[in-house]
Amino acid sequence: MEEMLAIFLSMLLVLGLIPLFLWKRRQDSRSSHEHEEEPQVAQREAVVRAPGGSRMRRRPASGASTSAAAAPGVEESVEGSDEEDVEGEYDAKASKKREKKRQEREAQRQAEQAARESRVTKQDRYAEMRRRKDEEREAQERQLEEEAKAQKAREEEAAALEFEKWKGEFSIDAEGTTENEVQDGRQDLLSDFVEYIKKHKCIPLEDLAAESKLRTQECINRITNLESMGRLSGVMDDRGKYIYISQEEMQAVADYIKRQGRVSISHLASKSNQFIDLEPKAQVEICYGQDEDAVVAAPPPEQEDCDGIFLSYTFTSREKELPHTKNMSAQAWAFKSEATILNAGSTELKAWKMYIGFQHREILVAAEGAQMVDGGDLPVDVGTKGAYFAGYPMTDLKTMIDTAGDYTQIQAKIAFKGTQFGMGEKSTPMPKTISIVNDGFKCPAAKFKGKTAMSVCCKKDPKFKAKKVEKTKFMPRQNGDLSITYDVMQTYTMNYLAQVTIDNVHPLGRLDHWNLTWEWMRGEFINTMRGAYTHKKDTSACLYGQAGKFYKDLDFSQVMNCEKKPVITDLPAERKDDPKVGKLPSCCRNGTILPSLMDKAQSQSIFQLQVFKIPPDDNRTAITPPQQWKISGVLNPTYRCGPPIRVDPTQFPDPSGLQATSDAIASWQVVCNITKTPVPRCCVSFSAYYSTSVIPCSTCACGCKTSETNKCNPKASAMLLPAEALLVPFANRTEKAKAWAKIKHYDVPKKLPCPDNCGVSLNWHIDSDYSNGWTARLTLFNWGTDQFQDWYTAVKMNKAYQDYENVYSFNGTRMEKEVNNTILFTGLKGLNYLVAIKNGTDPKKNPMIPGKQQSVISFKKKHYHNIDIKAGQGFPTRVLFNGEECALPKVFPKNNAGHLKSNALLRLSDATPNSDDHQLQKISLMFVAVPNVGTG
Ligand SMILES: *[C@@H]1O[C@H](CO)[C@@H](O)[C@H](O)[C@H]1NC(C)=O
Ligand SMILES: *[C@@H]1O[C@H](CO)[C@@H](O)[C@H](O)[C@H]1NC(C)=O
Ligand SMILES: *[C@@H]1O[C@H](CO)[C@@H](O)[C@H](O)[C@H]1NC(C)=O
Ligand SMILES: *[C@@H]1O[C@H](CO)[C@@H](O)[C@H](O)[C@H]1NC(C)=O
Ligand SMILES: *[C@@H]1O[C@H](CO)[C@@H](O)[C@H](O)[C@H]1NC(C)=O
Ligand SMILES: *[C@@H]1O[C@H](CO)[C@@H](O)[C@H](O)[C@H]1NC(C)=O
Repeated sequence: MEEMLAIFLSMLLVLGLIPLFLWKRRQDSRSSHEHEEEPQVAQREAVVRAPGGSRMRRRPASGASTSAAAAPGVEESVEGSDEEDVEGEYDAKASKKREKKRQEREAQRQAEQAARESRVTKQDRYAEMRRRKDEEREAQERQLEEEAKAQKAREEEAAALEFEKWKGEFSIDAEGTTENEVQDGRQDLLSDFVEYIKKHKCIPLEDLAAESKLRTQECINRITNLESMGRLSGVMDDRGKYIYISQEEMQAVADYIKRQGRVSISHLASKSNQFIDLEPKAQVEICYGQDEDAVVAAPPPEQEDCDGIFLSYTFTSREKELPHTKNMSAQAWAFKSEATILNAGSTELKAWKMYIGFQHREILVAAEGAQMVDGGDLPVDVGTKGAYFAGYPMTDLKTMIDTAGDYTQIQAKIAFKGTQFGMGEKSTPMPKTISIVNDGFKCPAAKFKGKTAMSVCCKKDPKFKAKKVEKTKFMPRQNGDLSITYDVMQTYTMNYLAQVTIDNVHPLGRLDHWNLTWEWMRGEFINTMRGAYTHKKDTSACLYGQAGKFYKDLDFSQVMNCEKKPVITDLPAERKDDPKVGKLPSCCRNGTILPSLMDKAQSQSIFQLQVFKIPPDDNRTAITPPQQWKISGVLNPTYRCGPPIRVDPTQFPDPSGLQATSDAIASWQVVCNITKTPVPRCCVSFSAYYSTSVIPCSTCACGCKTSETNKCNPKASAMLLPAEALLVPFANRTEKAKAWAKIKHYDVPKKLPCPDNCGVSLNWHIDSDYSNGWTARLTLFNWGTDQFQDWYTAVKMNKAYQDYENVYSFNGTRMEKEVNNTILFTGLKGLNYLVAIKNGTDPKKNPMIPGKQQSVISFKKKHYHNIDIKAGQGFPTRVLFNGEECALPKVFPKNNAGHLKSNALLRLSDATPNSDDHQLQKISLMFVAVPNVGTG
């Protein structure tokens, strides 16, 4: 840029002219452009050229004479006559000079001739040559000056004409306004344009075009016209920027040159920065926009003032997606944005985690530079709850102090791409908030900067007391519901042995037939595995990929798995002692992980794998743990896992049996937490001795598919049932419910309510209520085809919890410490199976029979002696089955016993445990009509 400025100024210096040549060249090329582009412009060009000739006729003298161009911004009409006088004078002087020169030359020639006659010297010849060259140059300069001047005059007239033409166009466009108004409006527009340029000082023409809603070429035209009108002065550089230089600044340069007398171009260029001030109204970044690599943009002031963790979110762009709809709220937009996290504090931030409160139904498609904390696969819907991100590959942010301000080590960026819905044309979909989630930080509300950027400075929470942990190199281990450790046990150049340990930490968490999956980041593959296996054995990914190229002699048919995302499953119990794949502690339980309260030995799973790496990771310490961990089971809680975080190496007892420990080479921890499943998978029905009707599971308690809602009503509340209807599948209840409604005079909706669709349901029946106690009967039903081994159910009783006395056919444990006011029921030995549904004795006549378990539970009235059983205080407030939250009905049974003599009571005959064949245990059902015990 300086160079360009220097050129400009040198011309000013040497010729005392404005860079008309530049302008002229541009004008020429433009006119040829315009010919191609637009016939209308071509026409204008023709108009421009015609008066050119007439001008020549009007002022024949100036064409032939040497002339000095006037500075821009001086009015032509005023200058015109003066200029001619000056020119005339100048002409006369020049011819006098030439005459003088001629005479001199004549004299010289004579002298030379005389000299040559005596002695011809080289020097003389040189001198002559130099003189000739000088003459030629003079002539050339004169010619250029003349041309420039002629061109300038032409342009002036063209500009005037064009202005007239624009005026004309405006009056056509804006019908109904008077000529004066039109002209004012036009002047306003033009002065806005000029003001905009003056304000920005240095502006890319593209930006200017966007701002003034013109095409770039039109912008250039307008600038040149404004220059010729004297309303604007400056230079256009070859990289498409216009730099405004005020008259004062030009004057300053001219004065300086006058003062100095003689200045070199480079000196002037360096000096001119003093005269021409690009700073005050300009953003430096714009001027240097194309040299971004060379110049680091100054950080925003908010960041300068931050001494904690600085977060920012910038909306980049948005584009309408197909299909286009008239309904604004249904319109999809593709958007791009960026978030940054910068450690501006004095301590390293390890394993950063950031929350972005998306709120415009965003669906994220890409998030470069980070991964979602719950390990979700993209695209993912984040529009209602927002999303958590952790760094990958950059997990830790060092401090400025440690890195001497190396931004690449203290800052991470996430580039988002996604779809967003609704919001008008002009609006920008910004998140509600941004914050960091790491312990010990406090984030105030984010501040908006304009409409497209927001930032926040999160500071250390002075109240936060970090747990006293030994100073370690890595992060302390985190708490969570499920903790998975990835320990590297042995490492070689091209492969390593890893051990994966899954620990169930949550008192009610559980997994059955677990599937664990992750994503290899560096092209690794699993050669062998012990204690678990992968479902697929597709080795084509290896054979045709990088691994195949590198391991030329490896027999891939023996390789365990080559998938980028392998699905790993526990081995069944019979492989426990298999010398090849078994023989590991805590392995081979067919994927069952129980709460430690039930069985500590079964609350952990372990397996080992041999991982093969590919170049460039060909050194022992180049180990990258897999990312995007996910674990799931059948009818279990839903777990969401975070990223693997490097922790201190796990210590193992020495295999030799000595009292020594050996450390893992490297350890990573993945923490998975239970998330509340949006749709439950079990439900509860309520019944009581004082009410003849059962409150069944809620309609669609475990979700309804749209395909079935055509036939049933998903909104209607479930129909009340007679007790025995609970024993048959939903499909066979309808007739019973209808008949019941007829007897009870209940309304039957035209479109019957939909089923609950739950695989497991529980019935809580209030059995009795007497002066110093009460009893309940809990029944479990399995409507699915999978049996549940080691089932358990947790029941939260609130106030009645303290009065829990006994359970007769289950094993009941108060969960004093672990979960408030909750009792855990498990099957007694031999009764720990909740079998699957099976056919009735005569499938044609009898409906299918669900798997069942039942027990009476007794409570006292010691602490909670005024418990109002009939008001529903004997019902649980929360029920979980195998760790999974079950849907509860919204109402309690009504006390209508006074109107009836008796009620049916659901009771399973006492089950006889048969440990030899507990799967086939038979539970017969009895319906006992009992006398009404309730008070009237
Ligand atoms: C192990 O689990 C599978 C399902 O993953 C099941 O089909 C099989 O019967 C189970 N085996 C045992 C011994 O429970
Ligand atoms: C009941 O459960 C507890 C804790 O899980 C256990 O210690 C006890 O042995 C179980 N009792 C029976 C009879 O199964
Ligand atoms: C091995 O790889 C690690 C991580 O990429 C690197 O830090 C280390 O310097 C490498 N060592 C050698 C000997 O190449
Ligand atoms: C585990 O993965 C296998 C194979 O992909 C699948 O058949 C099975 O249903 C999965 N089990 C669970 C509990 O997700
Ligand atoms: C899991 O929950 C614990 C608190 O119980 C929390 O500290 C941790 O950050 C959570 N992890 C994830 C991945 O959500
Ligand atoms: C129970 O419902 C199923 C499904 O509608 C039907 O096929 C079966 O015949 C019914 N059984 C009885 C005994 O009504």
